[in-house]
Amino acid sequence: MSKLRAAIKGVGAFVPEKVLTNADLEKMVDTSDEWITSRTGIKERHICPPDKPTSYMAAKAVEDLMQKSGLTPDDIDVLICATVTPDTVFPDTANTILHTINAKNGFGFDINAACSGFLYALTVGSKFIETGTYNNVVVVGADKMSSIIDYTDRATCIIFGDGAGAVLLGSTTSGNGVIDSILRGDGAGREFLHMKAGGSAKPANHETVDNKEHFVYQDGKPVFKAAVNGMISTVNEVLERNGLSTKDLDWLVPHQANMRIISSVGDTLDIPKEKIMINIHKYGNTTAGTLPLCLNDYEKQLKKGDKVVLTAFGGGFTWGSVYLIWDY
Ligand SMILES: CC(C)(COP(=O)(O)OP(=O)(O)OC[C@H]1O[C@@H](n2cnc3c(N)ncnc32)[C@H](O)[C@@H]1OP(=O)(O)O)[C@@H](O)C(=O)NCCC(=O)NCCS
Repeated sequence: MSKLRAAIKGVGAFVPEKVLTNADLEKMVDTSDEWITSRTGIKERHICPPDKPTSYMAAKAVEDLMQKSGLTPDDIDVLICATVTPDTVFPDTANTILHTINAKNGFGFDINAACSGFLYALTVGSKFIETGTYNNVVVVGADKMSSIIDYTDRATCIIFGDGAGAVLLGSTTSGNGVIDSILRGDGAGREFLHMKAGGSAKPANHETVDNKEHFVYQDGKPVFKAAVNGMISTVNEVLERNGLSTKDLDWLVPHQANMRIISSVGDTLDIPKEKIMINIHKYGNTTAGTLPLCLNDYEKQLKKGDKVVLTAFGGGFTWGSVYLIWDY
């Protein structure tokens, strides 16, 4: 019997019905389907209704997860929600999700690590399981990026979309499950990707609204470079630490930020495209939602024993890689 580890026992997801295509964006800003497709690989993204918050999508994803896995709301011990678009500054979104699904026996909290949020939350959630004290930990990645995007800024509005995914972590002694995790952060990167106002450093006022400081600001080129380097280095590090090479991998699950970033990571690591989960064309960058949305889309192709590395990079900067062996 191997040591007690956390394993993913189920996956659920939700994306809102409304689709914003590249053709729609052509009517909103000076851009083209050709530019967006060739520079990012994105064809369309889903947009949440203005009156529905992040917790609405997250609760739908958790309901999907419960329906597929047989989990009931009262089985949930801990719910961790990774998001940069919480419903409110406080209380946290995880609490609202638990209330929405009528879960009464657990507690929850949010993690803000931008596009790496799901990796951070997956790692923290796994630790709860490894203590042996908690049986069912739900890890959600959800973002309503449309609530913080300036749809007159062509540099950012073409990239992001809304969506949510959730996984159930339970325990296993099979030797499978979450094996290792390497997470990194460097606040020096914050100047390249951030929201200028709305926090304690610059509370909201008329001026911040007039100056459009409540939207995502991004300097794309340095982010692109750091994302490629950060993902490659931590994938290599986590594989080496476990005596593996990229040839041993069955799946790479990369954050879906830009198809050119994904290709560059895959090519450098010499991982064939068939082993890389890709759905950026359908959803764009859903920030904390991308990794669980990938797992959900590829769930049927995953087999027990598959060696999987998830990797992400995001604002902060934050980045990292998690190595796990699929357990169902
Ligand atoms: C944002 C990103 C797609 C821009 O691609 P890029 O190749 O770096 O493009 P640039 O910013 O250099 O812009 C090139 C030109 O296209 C123009 N352009 C920018 N957005 C455009 C758009 N939507 N449509 C048409 N042209 C556009 C620029 O104005 C620029 O024109 P110029 O040469 O006349 O000045 C790319 O930098 C990127 O994906 N960065 C990482 C983003 C990311 O991963 N963010 C999430 C965090 S993980």
